[in-house]
Amino acid sequence: PARDALIARLPKAELHLHIEGSLEPEMLFALAERNGVAIPFASAQEVRAAYAFSNLQDFLDIYYQGMGVLQTEQDFYDLTWAYLERAAADNVRHVEIFFDPQGHTERGVAFETVLDGIERALKDGEAQLGISYRLIMCFLRHLSEDEALSTLSEAAPHVGRIHGVGLDSSEVGHPPRKFERVFAKARELGLHVTAHAGEEGPPAYVHEALDLLKVERIDHGNRALEDPALIARLADEGMTLTVCPLSNLRLCVIDAIGASPVKRMLDLGLKVTVNADDPAYFGGYVNDNFRAVADALDLTHAEIVTLAENSFAGSFLAPADKARHI
Ligand code: HPA
Ligand code: ZN
Repeated sequence: PARDALIARLPKAELHLHIEGSLEPEMLFALAERNGVAIPFASAQEVRAAYAFSNLQDFLDIYYQGMGVLQTEQDFYDLTWAYLERAAADNVRHVEIFFDPQGHTERGVAFETVLDGIERALKDGEAQLGISYRLIMCFLRHLSEDEALSTLSEAAPHVGRIHGVGLDSSEVGHPPRKFERVFAKARELGLHVTAHAGEEGPPAYVHEALDLLKVERIDHGNRALEDPALIARLADEGMTLTVCPLSNLRLCVIDAIGASPVKRMLDLGLKVTVNADDPAYFGGYVNDNFRAVADALDLTHAEIVTLAENSFAGSFLAPADKARHI
């Protein structure tokens, strides 16, 4: 249909993508073999069958287990390059990818090994695929703020190679206020700031991300729609929300794609974007997410174009570079 053709050809930026969440079962197997890591599955099919989640934590347990096969600089390169080739096929022109250094350093993989491999692929992607990029380091919110501060110290010599910080992992019980000091330090270093908020956590967590962490974007933000004053504030401030429809479905944040907040957010004048989150685990890359909401919510061509424009407008690109894309 015409809608699918529009989605396929529209230039897009992807703003909410965990690179470790793009580890497809085939690569999981290949890297397990290459590195001599035992995994409790006999085939890629068995792996996919295990990807039935009832909530965020269910997924995170499998996600942290999966990243155990990533060990060498080349592994991080291969992972990132595979994602970029897939993104190019969806006409993604700019990516702002998350990585979880603490998921690797706690297993004995050096911070620099992770950063070097991801960055080398991003540079190749820029040169060979024409995809510009920013790299966002996430703190795992189930760990302490002191651990996040140590991770920020490890990253500090690499400011310029790392462009921003984010906050991910288990949301409920780990509110943004727990990370107020480390986000202040990150901002002092000149890093951009974003945080997952309102995926499973209450609207109060979105308020905290804005007031205490002073974020420039809200990742997910679904539950902001429960709070009219918060909606008005997000609209006023032109705050970008990075919504992930297939992720929301697979993590039971919504019970059907038709319940995705994308259309309601558009109608409320919010700067909503569509993203894949962890495509290898949730069954689709960015265009799959666009098609799913366009069909289920009967989005117009103009609305689909707005979603793509919002992705560049809400990016960390300089204004002149945003303008080239919109
Ligand atoms: N939410 C929180 N943490 C995450 C996610 C997510 O969707 N994906 C990877 N880490
Ligand atoms: Zn996410």
